[in-house]
Amino acid sequence: MSLVSAKSMLTDACSGHYAIGHFNLNNMESIRAFLLAAQETHSPIILAVSGGSAAYMGGYRTISHMVEDFMYYLHITVPVALHVDHGSYEQVLQAIEQGFSSVMFDGSSLPIEKNQQLTGEVMQLAQKHGISVEAEVGGIGGEEDGHIARGECADPHHCRLMAELGVDFLAAGIGNIHGKYPADWEGLHFDLLRQIKKEVGALPLVLHGGSNIPDDQIRQAIDFGVCKINVNTECQVAFTEATKRFFAEGKDMQPRGFAPRAMLAPGLEATKQLCIKKMELFGCLGKA
Ligand code: 13P
Repeated sequence: MSLVSAKSMLTDACSGHYAIGHFNLNNMESIRAFLLAAQETHSPIILAVSGGSAAYMGGYRTISHMVEDFMYYLHITVPVALHVDHGSYEQVLQAIEQGFSSVMFDGSSLPIEKNQQLTGEVMQLAQKHGISVEAEVGGIGGEEDGHIARGECADPHHCRLMAELGVDFLAAGIGNIHGKYPADWEGLHFDLLRQIKKEVGALPLVLHGGSNIPDDQIRQAIDFGVCKINVNTECQVAFTEATKRFFAEGKDMQPRGFAPRAMLAPGLEATKQLCIKKMELFGCLGKA
């Protein structure tokens, strides 16, 4: 099966009241781990690539070839979307040219009018290729106005403007933060999510910063209209912890323990298992 747009995955998720897992690629092991997790559990999946990860892994062309060739090699039959995560205008155009099936244009740091204009241009090009488009409004989570514990919060009116533009799905901050959450994090703001949902109607919403959000908040966010959840940090931590155990248990000193394939295998397996656990929580397990 070749790469697919994420549009119908998300439409099905919204009507079925579950969310699709978006998992960030960071190396070759993560490609294998996520594809195997999706295939073995018959689940649709979104594989995502940040700008930093694209630079590390040889650019969009290399990555799209690697993912498609792994899909062929591993006999992957479930729907897989290959998605640009937080792309600039130039990155999104490059990725479309190189065979990505979904893109996020992140114009959230621009004035809303400019964000709308550039998102609209990306949509025109993407539509010609049958590619889905995610937009973002609002500031990025983390430290903003000294409110680190609050995270990113979008303006519901800006969300409405993006919905009217016709994007396929929208990232709108509701107090979520990329990376590790601070101890005094206030949690997701469900009143804001409800207001945003009222403004955008049927448009699927995306929750970024999906690592380490308590399960009950994830379930509630899905109940309120979130249909795509992005996870990166937690998978990286699982990979690193498993690799640390390999060395702590002295496995590198065993025969052929020095081989990179041997030392990377526990991280790959840990990533795969975490991906399955997250898909179960999101409700997309077995939905392919
Ligand atoms: P985390 O790294 O916090 O899981 O966030 C991932 C993300 O939102 C990618 O866009």
